[in-house]
Amino acid sequence: MRKKIIAGNWKMNKSADEARTLALALRRAIGEMKHPEVVICPPFTAMGEVAAVLKGSRLRLGAQNMHQADSGAYTGEISARMLLTIGCTEVILGHSERRSLFSETDQAVNAKAKKALAAGLTPIVCVGETLAQRESGAMEKVIEQQIHGSLDSLSEADLKRTVIAYEPVWAIGTGKVATPDQAEEVHRHIRRLLSDMHGGNAAAEVTILYGGSVKADNAAGLFEMENIDGALVGGASLVADEFAAIVKAMT
Ligand code: PGA
Repeated sequence: MRKKIIAGNWKMNKSADEARTLALALRRAIGEMKHPEVVICPPFTAMGEVAAVLKGSRLRLGAQNMHQADSGAYTGEISARMLLTIGCTEVILGHSERRSLFSETDQAVNAKAKKALAAGLTPIVCVGETLAQRESGAMEKVIEQQIHGSLDSLSEADLKRTVIAYEPVWAIGTGKVATPDQAEEVHRHIRRLLSDMHGGNAAAEVTILYGGSVKADNAAGLFEMENIDGALVGGASLVADEFAAIVKAMT
């Protein structure tokens, strides 16, 4: 059985105080529910506050990025160990905003994923095509390059500990969600690519999330698909009741 995960990506939103309030509301709304694995990814400056609120619940703490080096002269960066010691268990890597706005390459995502795995963090590796790439028929190729590049030379054991998030760029923050069939087609493609890398058994174990305008009213349709194992939620993760309803759609 694959792990089912709902992750909330708060992006650059919420001061530490505001984050504490939202985390408390989420804990109240989700804490008592029988729920899948839930990971909350606040900005770095709010991780301490959110960790304190989540302590003793089944909700976990995640980060939105990290650097691949252990420590040193990397102004503005955060290491895997820093994340671990604050109680973080997962880290989002290669989000399309990191790729497009901060020039993150597959090679960098690969180095970060390896470091996260070695440190004991679960990487949530994001891939996804732009609208232009989809319309020109390059979608499958783009996903293949991102999967091969970002997961290059991972062992089978490491692949099984990795989570993939398929996030079509045209669906992120646009309100234009992929249809369940569109998403399922790419998830199947990703699983085939993973199978080519490490065989069908390993590929069958990898959790693949969908992300891009997931809301309470479209989540259930996506979660019915065989290869969709949860969601990476942006905007809707900032509203406790909305996020709780998405979590509920998975139970
Ligand atoms: P969205 O963002 O849900 O606001 O579209 C998803 C994401 O960027 O992870």
